[in-house]
Amino acid sequence: MQKLDKNSIFQGNLILVNQNYPLRCTIAAKNLCPAFKYQSEILMQRESAVMLNKLLRELNKGVSEEINNFIVGVSGYRTKSEQEEIFDDSLKENGREFTEKYVAFPDQSEHQTGLAIDLAENREEIDFIRPKFPYQGICQKFRIKMADFGFIERYKKEKQKITKIGAEPWHFRYVGVPHAEIMQRYGMALEEYIVWLKQFSFPDHSFTWWKGDREFKIGYVKAEETLTKIDLSQYGEQGQEDKKDDLAEGEELPDIQISGNNVDGFIITYAQ
Ligand code: DAL
Ligand code: ZN
Repeated sequence: MQKLDKNSIFQGNLILVNQNYPLRCTIAAKNLCPAFKYQSEILMQRESAVMLNKLLRELNKGVSEEINNFIVGVSGYRTKSEQEEIFDDSLKENGREFTEKYVAFPDQSEHQTGLAIDLAENREEIDFIRPKFPYQGICQKFRIKMADFGFIERYKKEKQKITKIGAEPWHFRYVGVPHAEIMQRYGMALEEYIVWLKQFSFPDHSFTWWKGDREFKIGYVKAEETLTKIDLSQYGEQGQEDKKDDLAEGEELPDIQISGNNVDGFIITYAQ
């Protein structure tokens, strides 16, 4: 039996962080690690960093030059005070309209989760707030492969009314496998996906998704007032949080993953 306290709602790969649902957990430093071989200052949560590196290695297949010569990191994990500084500096430099379009308010930024990464095509001049990551060449190849590794382009032009953030072709968010693929297939922003998942209550009405020959079941559990108990015994229950911390490069993700949605409950993802 998994027992999840109220704080667990605010943690996990699928947390929705935006104007309506600010970040409510603190990220432990031990869960952060460098996302790029040559840019040790850019951090992400361990699982997302491992998956980003797998994705970059996949893109490097058959290419003689290092992928890091073409795609570089611009900004990963940020503390609240870093986000405040970026916001305030941009207010001074670019004004309110621009800033609110491209910089989230402190505690409303996905960068504070350690699950987001801004990427740039490697050029001499890289804009920190709006780096260039074009819809062509190697950057587009990244987009074509990213869902396979659990990443989504978070702020699409056509979803601006929903996300309340301007189009950001450079900002990628790790949500995990197979969620990124499902969101892409159905054209859902994270805001929409979190609502959509609520119809699939775990375990009986879980959503089924096939990825190759692997079957995934995804279900929603509404959080109880204090403690939410989820019976996972039939799925070979395991201490998934412990396992995630130890996830080494090349290792498969655990079969059962539980994430809070940062709204009102949990999403259970089970892989056969
Ligand atoms: N640029 C995104 C919205 C952020 O500041 O989190
Ligand atoms: Zn970003």
